[in-house]
Amino acid sequence: MLKRILVVALCCAALAGGWMAVEPARVSALDNGVARTPPMGWNSWNKFGCNVSEDLIKSMADAMLTSGMKDAGYQYVVIDDCWQVSRDAQGNIVADPQRFPSGIKALADYVHSKGLKFGLYSDVGWKTCAERPGSMGHEFQDAAQYATWGVDYLKYDWCNTDTTNAQAAYGLMSAALKATGRPIVFSMCEWGTAKPWLWAKDTGNLWRTTGDIKDCWDCKAQYEHGFLTNLDLQVGLESFAGPGHWNDPDMLEVGNGGMTTTEYRSHFSLWALLAAPLIAGNDLRTMTPEIRDILTAPEVIAVNQDALGKEGARVWKQGDLEVWSKQQADGSRAVVLFNRGGAAADVTVNWVDIGYPAHLSANVRDLWAKKDVGKFSGNYTAKVDSHGVVMVKVTP
Ligand code: GLA
Repeated sequence: MLKRILVVALCCAALAGGWMAVEPARVSALDNGVARTPPMGWNSWNKFGCNVSEDLIKSMADAMLTSGMKDAGYQYVVIDDCWQVSRDAQGNIVADPQRFPSGIKALADYVHSKGLKFGLYSDVGWKTCAERPGSMGHEFQDAAQYATWGVDYLKYDWCNTDTTNAQAAYGLMSAALKATGRPIVFSMCEWGTAKPWLWAKDTGNLWRTTGDIKDCWDCKAQYEHGFLTNLDLQVGLESFAGPGHWNDPDMLEVGNGGMTTTEYRSHFSLWALLAAPLIAGNDLRTMTPEIRDILTAPEVIAVNQDALGKEGARVWKQGDLEVWSKQQADGSRAVVLFNRGGAAADVTVNWVDIGYPAHLSANVRDLWAKKDVGKFSGNYTAKVDSHGVVMVKVTP
């Protein structure tokens, strides 16, 4: 018994302080059965930051239905940081009583009553990124609480972790979630620091591969980067994604005002092609028809949700012009012709670059126009607007 207590104490001290090598928590496989295709939903952070409340979340759940987002496949409504304020005498996490007067369980029930799923946020460290209480030392207690409330999705952040070992810490919460017996999507928000794609397949359902996205085409702040930087950081990671375990280049900024409609269409097309989680981050209650049409584009979403679960890859690049391709379950390829440059340009996809014989005749369908373009042998060329995409499906 004493030996067991000692082992537990050493393990936890190591986890908190990181002063000795620890075996990561042994979780044989993340067999929670969820996120077989990339998760789709909405999260409060990109638009609302800490300004969250039960009224906001309820109205956003309503808007998921009225805007057509739910019908398009979006499911999860996730409250990010700042819903929590303290712990009670027993160590239970306490929601902000001013902003969530009915409590989290009632809010989860409301979201479920709309046929949607409910998500929350916490952090590996002793405090979240916004300095609210984190889960360190309370992992099993928090996971059990989430399950009692009816949580379906946990985003688990990485602030205030000091020298904590990421693999051990995420493994611990993964085990805690598993122990609840409730299938909960586990979204690891570790920013790619410890290369989670190399070890997290059996730990989480998705893992951030980058720092925070910023609502701009190509800008840089200390911890945040624009769309292009996050996109480029995905190159080479495609083999690590698959059903139940996805690379996450961060949530969508579509509709938040910092990019043009053309740029948002590119952002959405490429996230779809990357089999990235499609987590909208805008105000669904007030979005324009153009933004709604981007977020709900059926044939683009179908590429993201394809059952094969392959992440797309960049297969050709010359200067500002690129071709990205994703293999689909039916043998077709979804292809994004992408123009980063300042003027419209022709972009060509060659069949050999997407794994087809050079002279194959294939049908080309434009997924934004929802129109067949015709049959083409060997390649297809389209004029692509500055900062824009043409997205097609190539079917032999
Ligand atoms: C980090 C995460 C963001 C968001 C904030 C909340 O920066 O990467 O996605 O959750 O914390 O404080």
